Amino acid sequence: MKSVAIDQWGGIDALKLQTLPVPKVGPDEVLMHIETAGVGKWDPFEREGGFAKYYQFEPEFPHVLGSDGAGTVAAVGESVDRFRPGDQVYGFTLLNPKGGSYAEYAAIKADLVSHIPGKLTVQEAGAMPVDAITALRGLDDTLGLKPDESIMIFGASGGIGHLAVQLAKRIGARVFAVASGDDGVMLCKKLGADTVVDGHKDDVAEAARKFAREGLDAALLTAGGSAANKALTAMRSGGRVAYPNGVEPTPTTPEGVKAQAYDGTPDARAIEKLNRLIETPGPVAFEVHVARRFPLEQASEAQQALDKHYLGKLALKTA
Ligand SMILES: NC(=O)c1ccc[n+]([C@@H]2O[C@H](COP(=O)([O-])OP(=O)(O)OC[C@H]3O[C@@H](n4cnc5c(N)ncnc54)[C@H](OP(=O)(O)O)[C@@H]3O)[C@@H](O)[C@H]2O)c1
Repeated sequence: MKSVAIDQWGGIDALKLQTLPVPKVGPDEVLMHIETAGVGKWDPFEREGGFAKYYQFEPEFPHVLGSDGAGTVAAVGESVDRFRPGDQVYGFTLLNPKGGSYAEYAAIKADLVSHIPGKLTVQEAGAMPVDAITALRGLDDTLGLKPDESIMIFGASGGIGHLAVQLAKRIGARVFAVASGDDGVMLCKKLGADTVVDGHKDDVAEAARKFAREGLDAALLTAGGSAANKALTAMRSGGRVAYPNGVEPTPTTPEGVKAQAYDGTPDARAIEKLNRLIETPGPVAFEVHVARRFPLEQASEAQQALDKHYLGKLALKTA
């Protein structure tokens, strides 16, 4: 199969288009024929060996990169009865011992595979998994967001952010979105946020105080820095703040406001809840915004594009 793999940890030059054997499907696995792979903000960290060092595992090279994707089921292991060949599915491949999603095929534990919910296309579903689960883990498990609470999503036009806006609306919260640029503001308005400001030029704290006069109940941050810290001054005392590990610099909160770092770890329960929320009617149909889909051969260009302004997610066309 065609894949983008590395023979050693390294910079952008380490990415190589390689022909590798299709992974063998184990008894509790699904072999996914991947059509779209997500390109995550954290993919350069994986390429440089960051996850291997953090989780202390010895990699096998060539190592196929990529943490999520979607496509069709090509084969299932003997103990898998939830899926059949031809089903349209999405799946998680971060730290997958049989290889990631920058490839035509991946063998994935069935627990980390799901049918595609709602009206999402395969192209949307492939760009969504890690960012969507990370948005849900933040809103649900970490913040315990409840209907009618006010929440600020900081970085709302990015990968996690634009999904968090839509999930928070489906939970029934009032959403104050801090987006990037005029295009980011437009996207968040379209997705149903109640109030949207541009975090690069507007007075976010003042707008947040108008939005929630008693102070914001909760905040999910997907970017850090002085603008984020200033925005947090609009939290109420006792307010809750969450941010996924990887957000740098880590947020500084005012006294009386608790910030918690977390990971977007997938499991069957969270995936099921995510699908249910996606299928819950919201202000507009649930959308995964894919800014650009690069051919697999252009994985280097895709990873370089992570450093520029874009909305939603980047993706690779793998088949
Ligand atoms: N621990 C985990 O499980 C986990 C899982 C997924 C992701 N993460 C981490 O979470 C972070 C976010 O991930 P992501 O996929 O959502 O990345 P992303 O798409 O880059 O989202 C961050 C967004 O914040 C925006 N932003 C930055 N400063 C802003 C400001 N002052 N005002 C408004 N918007 C601003 C960025 O836009 P501009 O670039 O245009 O400013 C970007 O759209 C990354 O660090 C990633 O590594 C962790």
